Amino acid sequence: MPSRDVTITVLFNNNTRDPKLRAAHGMSCLIEGLGKTILFDTGGDGVILLDNMKVLGKDPKAVDVVALSHAHWDHSGGLFAFLHRARPGIDAFIPRAVSALFREHAALLGAKVTVVDGPVEIVQGLHSTGEMGGEHLPVDRREQALVFKGEAGAVVLTGCAHPDVVDIVRRANEIVPGAIDVVLGGFHLKDAETDVVERVIGGLKELGVRRMGPSHCTGEKHTEVFRRTWGDGLVGFDAGTTFSFRMAA
Ligand SMILES: [Fe+2]
Ligand SMILES: [Fe+2]
Repeated sequence: MPSRDVTITVLFNNNTRDPKLRAAHGMSCLIEGLGKTILFDTGGDGVILLDNMKVLGKDPKAVDVVALSHAHWDHSGGLFAFLHRARPGIDAFIPRAVSALFREHAALLGAKVTVVDGPVEIVQGLHSTGEMGGEHLPVDRREQALVFKGEAGAVVLTGCAHPDVVDIVRRANEIVPGAIDVVLGGFHLKDAETDVVERVIGGLKELGVRRMGPSHCTGEKHTEVFRRTWGDGLVGFDAGTTFSFRMAA
């Protein structure tokens, strides 16, 4: 069986590794090589998102599907400009907890909106965990994460991980069983107490996560704890970073 390469390129993040890119609070990344091209989150500003895509040589018109992790503006705020300026007819997977008004607005701008409740295969090989956090979180913090199976194990992408990154990875691992290669994104720990961070790291270690890419709302201080724990397994996720994964066809 031939194998194929999947790449993830960080388009928008609080920090950038490339001075030509604009850094801003938020997150967006592009997943290519799964047959379709997927935009995961849009950052908080569609103009910055489109500018960064241009610098990185990524054509917005090549995007087939957008998936939003959750309602917060630093993840969803770029969507309307992206639809309006670049890609109106796109499929959009938006969690139920994002307001109906927001979804209607996206549809008015041409998006073909799918409301996400439970786990769903967004494109072949790429799964949503489904909306999580409904049992205990306010609507704006209910969130979906994405997962696919690379040759070295599951690759998990989070927005802010408000429903708890350990719970998200556990759910992702139910959908894509076996080894967990890497977890990338925001882990929402910037204001967390040390004991919470220790619990999270313990939970991720127990799940056997090989590599971690904390960014966005993880917080610098706690990122250092991840760095000390994972050592070489700590990977950057700043804007301009690209990851390649081999995926069995
Ligand atoms: Fe965020
Ligand atoms: Fe958030």
